[in-house]
Amino acid sequence: MNIREQVVAVAPEWALKRARSVFKALVGRRVQRYDATLFRRYRLRRVTGANLSQLEGKLTFHAHAIEKGLSHSVLRPHFGRTALTQLAFAMEEYSRQGYGRERRTYKNALSAIGAYAQAHRELGLEPSLLSEIFDEVTLAYAESSSDDLAGVTVLEGSSKKDNGVKNFKALFEGRYSVREFADGPLSVERILPALNLSRKAPSVCNRQASRVKIVTDAVLIDKVLKIQGGMTGYATPPALLVVTTDLAAFLEPTERNQPFIDGGIYTMALLLALEHEELAACPLNAMMTGRNEDRVKSLLGIPVSERLIVFLAVGEFPRSVKVPMSFRLPVDDVVRLPVDDVVSHISE
Ligand SMILES: Cc1cc2nc3c(=O)[nH]c(=O)nc-3n(C[C@H](O)[C@H](O)[C@H](O)COP(=O)(O)O)c2cc1C
Repeated sequence: MNIREQVVAVAPEWALKRARSVFKALVGRRVQRYDATLFRRYRLRRVTGANLSQLEGKLTFHAHAIEKGLSHSVLRPHFGRTALTQLAFAMEEYSRQGYGRERRTYKNALSAIGAYAQAHRELGLEPSLLSEIFDEVTLAYAESSSDDLAGVTVLEGSSKKDNGVKNFKALFEGRYSVREFADGPLSVERILPALNLSRKAPSVCNRQASRVKIVTDAVLIDKVLKIQGGMTGYATPPALLVVTTDLAAFLEPTERNQPFIDGGIYTMALLLALEHEELAACPLNAMMTGRNEDRVKSLLGIPVSERLIVFLAVGEFPRSVKVPMSFRLPVDDVVRLPVDDVVSHISE
């Protein structure tokens, strides 16, 4: 018998229980520290001196903000000073570090600037912010870019009419985040079939802890979106779905991130189910302080024991709607083939 087994053999049950609970608390604290340390260490904190992944994240973030601005049905001329300035700063650092123009994230940034210029010219406006913020060479590349990675694409509501019979690939590839909806209310009955279908989403040990609050009251939606902050400039959506995860379903400290993983998987299933039901939707982040999360829960009567995962703005497709193109990375940037392992082992 080793020491641990000897202690377990003689210790009273109450002491063992207490020891197990202290041990779990210690593990809980350690894994939380691990999460916080990794996040603090590797997220982008300063553009100057940032690594390639961090710079690409920054380029993509600001380029997307620009294409989002371009997707409004009524363009706000000369919008986006902050996004354009930040994009220029990240592009300068990217070039300063010697990265080339061939990477898709950089091409996407150029394409977003080109789309911004074109949208203004189509309205008979000179995109004066661009020449104020970007150097001539970058602008020349942007305006001659034929990549069509960034900007907007137009979805026709009529193209969604056969969503119920589309194959998976067509349905998946045809889904875009839609932020402007057809006028008029959306009934709960219209949303329920998608919620029924999305129950098929897998979850850890089949715990099925995802919950959805349906909000159709415009005043309440506005209050929540004001706290959320990621839908400014768009009209109030006809419905807001609030996806949460019930923490009561979890057991171990090491499961700390599982509510978000299950919530994310559930949300994707729900987005596809809504698309299948010919409903337009846009996921909206729930990245907020604990205080704001509590405010949202209190406004909507969501139990404090649930975590907010995401909001979904939902409505009927309008006749036609502009959506950001939201480029995707090439597959080689996403997938590491087994050969990469071999190469990295050899070079170690
Ligand atoms: C978790 C999550 C949070 C998001 N938050 C916002 C948001 O706050 N505002 C917004 O306009 N779009 C938001 N989006 C939509 C993304 O911008 C969009 O999914 C992305 O650009 C890919 O485009 P697609 O959905 O059209 O394929 C969010 C998406 C996800 C998955």
